[in-house]
Amino acid sequence: MKRVFIKTYGCQMNERDSELVAHDLMQNGYDLVNNESDADVVLLNTCSVREKAEKKAIGKANNLLSKRKKKKQITLGILGCMAQNLGTNLVDEVKGVNLIVGTQKFHRISQYLKKISTGHLANYQSRVIDLEEEEGSHHTINQHLSSSAEQVSAFVSIMQGCNMNCSFCIVPKTRGNERYREMSEICDEIKILRDRGIKEVTLLGQIVNAYGRGVFPRLRGESPFVQLVKKIHGIEGIERIRFTSPHPTSFGPDLIEAFAALPKLGDYTHLPLQSGSNKMLKSMNRPYKREKFLELVTALRSVNQNMRISTDIIVGYPGETEAEFEETVSAFKEAAFEMAFIFKYSERSGTPAAQFPDKIPKKIKEERNQIMLKILERQSEASNLKKVDKIMEVLVESKARKGRGELMGRTRCFRKVIFEAGRELIGQIVPVRIKVASSTLLKGSVA
Ligand code: 5AD
Repeated sequence: MKRVFIKTYGCQMNERDSELVAHDLMQNGYDLVNNESDADVVLLNTCSVREKAEKKAIGKANNLLSKRKKKKQITLGILGCMAQNLGTNLVDEVKGVNLIVGTQKFHRISQYLKKISTGHLANYQSRVIDLEEEEGSHHTINQHLSSSAEQVSAFVSIMQGCNMNCSFCIVPKTRGNERYREMSEICDEIKILRDRGIKEVTLLGQIVNAYGRGVFPRLRGESPFVQLVKKIHGIEGIERIRFTSPHPTSFGPDLIEAFAALPKLGDYTHLPLQSGSNKMLKSMNRPYKREKFLELVTALRSVNQNMRISTDIIVGYPGETEAEFEETVSAFKEAAFEMAFIFKYSERSGTPAAQFPDKIPKKIKEERNQIMLKILERQSEASNLKKVDKIMEVLVESKARKGRGELMGRTRCFRKVIFEAGRELIGQIVPVRIKVASSTLLKGSVA
């Protein structure tokens, strides 16, 4: 039996794609292993969103190939966004790579591996490259690994691609135009997951709340995304519904109201701001203004006072002056974000921003990054400290990674909580009294 190891870089969408690949390969007689040194086939599912992610994957690939010379032959595949982005250039960057597969071909991998191993060239010398588009490929991200009894949460891909064209972003190139799965198809998948014991689903899309726009009709003033969320909300046994990543401009009043009307949505959303400066937002081709964004934050918190909001910020975007960076600082404070991913701008060749003048020196990007991280830590700690002594509803996910006899779960607002209790609580929603809080973690005990 062939053993395969899949390493995933980047976002939840990539994790989900890797799950599909793992499922397909297992169906085709492969064994999934947790360690590259045990594997006959190593697949790197890659990310292109920043240069660092690409460098890491290329480094890893070359490292694996240098080992190949010395020890046994492995078949090496590079999948996903970086494969799509760099294409056949990868053949030069990673000499000896056997498989290069783009973002619309994950479901073809087992077939290609077979071709490689039955080719007339020795296993490690043959190569398959497929970076084409494929009509309907978004429908194929629908199978899940048969979960262990203790799996509580699952990712569900509802769409692929992105039509927004933010000036900094490579994703429209790597993932293509928006394509949406049918609501019935998505609900059927979720019912199967529910029957296997899944309690929480995270709906995935590069621009998830734009789901169905222009293809499925709005009904009673509701976007297709809200219609879908309502349908899923009606599936008994699914206790929580999360989604990532939404775009502020597709966050209409219907979705804001959904947070009041649909308890399974919980008290959390991600809302990428990117910059607090209108000039930068315009240059980024983000079609909203700082003021509108902050109004959206206020509206969400007014329908749900417990709402916890996280964001993405890019510092050091081309042309970002000190004053414009300060606008991001002030917007970040005003929105009182409790969690955030702060990124230093990374030039992506082929994107409009790569051509923009006034690139910001590395040192300044680093300084701005550190400033944002400090503010984030303060805000996140302040908000977590307010939870001490409160009883929170926690969906228990797993054993805690460290600490014997401890479990890990998440609150309605998606904070991690660690507490002592028996494994039988995994999959249940239990009240936990918070005793200790830091910027990243809550600890408590069953109330
Ligand atoms: N440089 C830095 N950060 C980026 N992101 C996307 N493209 C870039 C880039 N070129 C960030 C954005 C996005 C998140 C997923 O990654 O903040 O929301």
